[in-house]
Amino acid sequence: MVVKIYRSARSLTKKVFETKKRGKTIGLVPTMGFLHEGHMSLIRRARKDTDCVIVSIFVNPAQFGPKEDFKKYPRDFKMDFSLCEKENADIVFAPKAEEIYPENYVTYVNVEKITDTLCGASRPGHFRGVATVVAKLFNITMPDIAYFGQKDAQQAIVIKRMAEDLNMSVRIKVMPIVREKDGLAMSSRNVYLNLKERMQAQSISKSLKLAKELFDSGERNSGKIINKMKKVIDKQSEAKIDYMKIVDTKNLKDIQKISGKTLIAAAIWVGKTRLIDNIILN
Ligand code: PAJ
Repeated sequence: MVVKIYRSARSLTKKVFETKKRGKTIGLVPTMGFLHEGHMSLIRRARKDTDCVIVSIFVNPAQFGPKEDFKKYPRDFKMDFSLCEKENADIVFAPKAEEIYPENYVTYVNVEKITDTLCGASRPGHFRGVATVVAKLFNITMPDIAYFGQKDAQQAIVIKRMAEDLNMSVRIKVMPIVREKDGLAMSSRNVYLNLKERMQAQSISKSLKLAKELFDSGERNSGKIINKMKKVIDKQSEAKIDYMKIVDTKNLKDIQKISGKTLIAAAIWVGKTRLIDNIILN
């Protein structure tokens, strides 16, 4: 089957209306491209669940801070397109920035409180950009189900909150983290790492694995777990902790004593690359 590329929001919405009229369901996989197995797992799931799979590929300027990597963010449309073909996606939506943010654009979606912590604290404005573009993608493609990765745990929580708060009729499905053999969570940004940094990048998933082991052996004190996790990172010469937190999965507030569903989330710098990872404890 041929994958169709859309550059225009209006013509895609027209196509979506026609598709829905024929009683078909729509699955949306929002991405910033440079696709890897993590993205593929979402596309495969969408392919299983829905009739018409739309993959959006858009490096969203609104979610990058002024000193962040928007310009150098890796891009390879040809490769992305052939991966979408391989997974039998129906549509690739790859708009230009002017299509999403035309001149005189002034409307943003702000999810409060749960965006003040974790990545939101280190990247002011990031989730405002994410929520805005995802809301726009939802309006353009009107998906029955939209797919997100647990890799970006806070993002998934923010999007769920937004969809609920704004009465958006879309189901949000969150898929497990896909990892490299050594445990490193797959990310488009992993290409930034040199060999030494790549080795040291393992420490973030190792620290989370240690946290899980401590939890499984009965430890419930967050402070104690975090201290031990921090030691794993501190051993690495190129790694620096951005944050390491144990929080409630609903309100993202710090938890002192673990009970119930809990998120352990971490962000570290390895050289000039910022990496994130997390696990859920039940
Ligand atoms: P991007 O980083 O390209 O990720 C697109 C989707 O793939 C996100 O839902 C992300 O959580 C998921 N993903 C990335 N790595 C993964 C992994 N190793 N395992 C499982 N899922 C993974 O996240 C964004 O783009 C943007 O913020 C976006 C939602 C597209 C808005 O611009």
